[in-house]
Amino acid sequence: MSMSILEGKKYNITTFGCQMNEHDSETIAGMLQEEKCVETLSRDEADIAVINTCSIRENADKRFFGTLGQLKKVKERNPHYMVCLCGCMMQQEHITETIKKKYPWVDIIFGTHNIDRFPKLLRDAYEERRKIMEVKEDRSDIAEGLPSKRLFKHKAFVNIMYGCNNFCTYCIVPYTRGREKSRHPEDILLEAEKLAADGVKEITLLGQNVNSYRGLDAGGQEKDFADLIYLLNEVEGIERIRFMTSHPKDLSHKLIEAYRDCRKLCDYIHLPVQSGSSRILKAMNRKYDREEYLRLVHKLREAVPNITMSTDIIVGFPSETEEDFKGTLSLVREVKYDSAFTFLYSRRKGTPAAQYEDQIPEEVKHERFNRLVEAVNSESAARNAACVGRVEKVLVEGRSKKDKGVLTGRTEGFKLVDFQGDENLIGKIADVEITEGKTFSLRGRVRQTL
Ligand code: 5AD
Ligand code: SF4
Repeated sequence: MSMSILEGKKYNITTFGCQMNEHDSETIAGMLQEEKCVETLSRDEADIAVINTCSIRENADKRFFGTLGQLKKVKERNPHYMVCLCGCMMQQEHITETIKKKYPWVDIIFGTHNIDRFPKLLRDAYEERRKIMEVKEDRSDIAEGLPSKRLFKHKAFVNIMYGCNNFCTYCIVPYTRGREKSRHPEDILLEAEKLAADGVKEITLLGQNVNSYRGLDAGGQEKDFADLIYLLNEVEGIERIRFMTSHPKDLSHKLIEAYRDCRKLCDYIHLPVQSGSSRILKAMNRKYDREEYLRLVHKLREAVPNITMSTDIIVGFPSETEEDFKGTLSLVREVKYDSAFTFLYSRRKGTPAAQYEDQIPEEVKHERFNRLVEAVNSESAARNAACVGRVEKVLVEGRSKKDKGVLTGRTEGFKLVDFQGDENLIGKIADVEITEGKTFSLRGRVRQTL
C-alpha cells in the first residue's frame, strides 16, 4: 500500500464555541488519526493547524482575526504550514470574503456541512499545491460513520440532529448550520453501543433543539426525542444519558415522563430562558412567555424533585428596559438555577435583531450583565450549599488540574465535585458525600465505589 501524503503529519486543532463545535473537532481529529496524522499540543509546531470557529460568543470576530494574525507569523516562518479554517463562521459570506481578500495565505476553508470531506480537501491541497475553499449551503443527507477522537475516555458526545428551524431573532445558527435534520434512530443506537463497548459510560445527546428530534426508523416509523431516550436507556454499558440543548417551547410531557421511567436519564436539564420579560421573549421570537416557562419549570420540579437546572440568558437585547431586565433578575431568583451561562447581546450580521433600531448602549449592557452574574452566582452558591450532607453518584473523570492529589468528576446533576481518591476510581461511578458547596463546584469524600 502506498503511503498517504498525510501520514506522519502533525496536527493541532483550536476549538472555539459550543459542545457542537467540540464534537466536530473530535470528528476532525478522528479523521486525521485515520490518515495516520499525529496530534501535537503546540499549534506553532504543527504541520496542519485547524481553527474551528464559532460565531456566537461576544467578540467572536475580533478573537478570530486575532488568532489569524498569530497564524500569519508562523506561516511566514514556515511556508509549508497548512492553515485550515472551519466552523460556523465560515458559513458567513462576509467572513470568507474578508479572508480571501485580506488573508490570502490561508490554505483551506470548509464549512459545517462538509466536515467529512476534510481529509480529501487536505490531500488535494498538498498534492495539487492549491488553496481550497469548499463551503456548502446545506445538504439533505447526513454523513454517517465518521470516526471520532474523544476528549474523554468515559464520556462522549452523540449528535442526534443537526441545524435549527427556530430563527430566534438574535441568533446566527439557523443561517450557519442550516435546517433541522435528524439522524436515524438505528444509527444513533449503533453509535451508542459502539461507544459503550469502548468503555463509555455517559453520553450527551447533541442538537440545537433536541426536543424537535424526529428520526425515521428502518420501518418508516417516526421516533421523537422521548422515544429515543427510552431506546438508549436499554443500551448495556451506558450508565448516563444527558442532552443539550432543549427549547422550552417543544418540551413534551412525554419527555418529563421519561425522566421518571428511564433510570439512566440524568436528573438534569439545560433549559435556555434567554429573558425573564415576556415582551423581550416575543421580540426574540422564542414562542413562549415568562409564565409558560415558569409553569414548565414547576412541572419538571414536580415530576423530578431533585432536578438540576441550568440556562442561557442574554442581557441587553434591543429595546430591553430596566423593567424588562428586572424581570430577568426576578426569574433567576424564582427558578433558583444551579448555574447559568450569561451573554451580552451581540449584534450578528444577517439576523433580524441586528437591524433593530433601539440597540442598548454598551455601558448599560455591562452594568446589567454584572448585576445578573451576581444574582446567578448567589443562587448557584445557595443550591450548591444545599447539597452538603447528600451522597451523590459521581462519574470520576480524572485528576484535578490544580491539585494532582485530587480527583474530579460530575454528579448526575452535572455539578463538578473535587475529592481525595485513588487513581483507580477514574472511569467509575463513586458514591461521594458532599462536604462543601462553593459557587461553581462541590467538595466531597468518597463513600463507596460502584
Ligand atoms: N448575542 C448574545 N448571545 C447569543 N446567544 C446566541 N446568539 C447570541 C447573540 N447574538 C446565546 C444564547 C444561546 C447561547 C448558545 O448563546 O443564549 O442559547
Ligand atoms: Fe439559535 Fe434559537 Fe436555534 Fe437556539 S433555538 S440555535 S438560539 S435559533
